[in-house]
Amino acid sequence: MKLKIAAALVAASFLVAPATAQEYPTQPLTMLVPFSAGGPTDVVARLVAQVMSRELGQQVLVENAAGAGGTLASGRLAQAEPDGYTMLIHHLGIATSATLYRSLPYDPLTAFDYVGQVTTVPMLLVSRPDYPAENFEQLLQMARENPDETLLANAGPGAVSHICGMLFMQAIGEQLTTVPYPGTGPAMTDVMGGQVDLLCDQTTNAIPPVSNNSVKAYATATAERIPQLPDVPTALEQGLEGFEVGVWHGIYVPAGTPEDRIETLSSALQVALQDETVLARFNELGTAPVPLEDATRESLKNQYESQIEFWRPLIEQAGEYAN
Ligand code: MLT
Repeated sequence: MKLKIAAALVAASFLVAPATAQEYPTQPLTMLVPFSAGGPTDVVARLVAQVMSRELGQQVLVENAAGAGGTLASGRLAQAEPDGYTMLIHHLGIATSATLYRSLPYDPLTAFDYVGQVTTVPMLLVSRPDYPAENFEQLLQMARENPDETLLANAGPGAVSHICGMLFMQAIGEQLTTVPYPGTGPAMTDVMGGQVDLLCDQTTNAIPPVSNNSVKAYATATAERIPQLPDVPTALEQGLEGFEVGVWHGIYVPAGTPEDRIETLSSALQVALQDETVLARFNELGTAPVPLEDATRESLKNQYESQIEFWRPLIEQAGEYAN
């Protein structure tokens, strides 16, 4: 009898034993995108977030927090709880902003920790469909003769379209009239509609409208031609030096996020970068995933810090600052 009672007590103690704490993550996560929905950063974010959601067992909700050339979202991340539930996907612009902005609502060198690099994306120069230049040479001539009337769209200081446009203007030796947007998604809509003349954008956003002739492509800002657009020559091939920019993306968390949570996020990112659906779409859009060893905390930290140093003198030389 005594034995039966003891066995029942042991069984009961298992029933009431506190459940072991569920492992991170136990609730949905947020991935901030610093530009408009439908633009190039958003496209990469949504592809990656879908696989990361599956891998983490929790939704990764993409939130577009556009404004101030991407620095609004970076500021949001810097203020977020360092608990592994808020991430930011951002490109090269997070490094250029460190110099472009005279004051930022965060310290670029201490505000963030790093999940990993994501992709590299080429850029190219496109125009409204009825822009009269028949080739790049004519475009350069028109822009040089009418700089004030040539409307060059961008997504604000800190956006790569801004950096690319800045390099273009430096290369041709003219200041064009720049028109800022909250992202190159809406900027591209206006290029297609003929409201602005030119835009330097990432292939992620530019390949679809170039392919269906909604915009014209004149030159890539790359060392080699882009395989998905073999008929578009590089600017260098067409005699324009100094117009080259390579975009890279990374995922960031607030400084102070526990290391084991960062590792969980990095592992999920690495799975996303091997997913066949993601890779196929990246390829269609001219984008390449980074090698897996770069989808890591250390690699993004190095890339971010060295790119701040790389761009600082170029931006200082251009003398274009934002407030
Ligand atoms: C976007 O997502 O709209 C772009 O990345 C903006 C840009 O940097 O040009």
